[in-house]
Amino acid sequence: MKTLRKAVIPVAGLGTRFLPATKAQPKEMLPLVDTPVIQYVVEEAIRAGIESIVLVTGRGKGAIENHFDVAYELEDTLRRRGKQEDLDLVRDITHLAQFAYVRQGEPLGLGHAVLCARHAVGDEPFALLLGDDVFDERDSALESLITAYQATGKSVVGVQEVPEEHVSRYGIVSGSSGSGTAWDVTAIVEKPRPEDAPSRWAVVGRYVLEPPVFEHLAALQPGVGGEYQLTDALAILAREGRLVAAPIPARRYDTGNKLDYLKANVEFALKREDLRSDFAAYLKDLVKGF
Ligand code: G1P
Repeated sequence: MKTLRKAVIPVAGLGTRFLPATKAQPKEMLPLVDTPVIQYVVEEAIRAGIESIVLVTGRGKGAIENHFDVAYELEDTLRRRGKQEDLDLVRDITHLAQFAYVRQGEPLGLGHAVLCARHAVGDEPFALLLGDDVFDERDSALESLITAYQATGKSVVGVQEVPEEHVSRYGIVSGSSGSGTAWDVTAIVEKPRPEDAPSRWAVVGRYVLEPPVFEHLAALQPGVGGEYQLTDALAILAREGRLVAAPIPARRYDTGNKLDYLKANVEFALKREDLRSDFAAYLKDLVKGF
């Protein structure tokens, strides 16, 4: 059985949908309750057995590297003040995985970002996780893809069915026979108009990719929006019969979208033992006024 050790997470995006919050800090560091979005994504990868994380970063993203690194002054202060719990919380982050960083010098698209990780990944399959998509921690989103990868030996895209009016926000794959398990993708289109979409099955930010994808990425021409699109490289894998879609049975939050980001904060807070009852009481009281 092929094992998956590495994951790539592109974090070079400018986060313009969250200005002004993202003017001077990476969007990936925005918190859900008290933990940055990027940490949830890294932890999902670790839970699925990933040991090594390659972050494709860019200018202004230093806070992400610092977050996963030792914070000497902070740790020393917490130690001297006897704040063991906080110290453990901070230290544990540095032990989550092995981290490597590569830079994407120019914002040329997701396909280009993934290609930047080529030498760090080497000649082995890897998971790709997009930082805007966060899944409920109780479900194992990436694991559904790994199961499909191990069963088929082909590259995998994680998909969910979306309403017709949303298909133009996603890469859309050809639909399933309805069995509920992974299926062969015969076509994949980036952000189609609803009338051109092959189905309503959208790629939702989780992939397992075989190394030949790098060859296809290196040969890409600019696609939708003038960017190098990962979807165009995946379309070649689909034509070669080397791509499957795996449905992800998990609650998803698009934290790059303001409404979904707010919902995620509320729902993550309600899952927390230390906040649930007070916060639920507050919300019940609040909605009475509407
Ligand atoms: C990217 C991909 C798209 C995918 C989406 C998932 O688009 O290009 O195929 O469906 O992520 O979130 P973006 O959201 O970066 O525009």
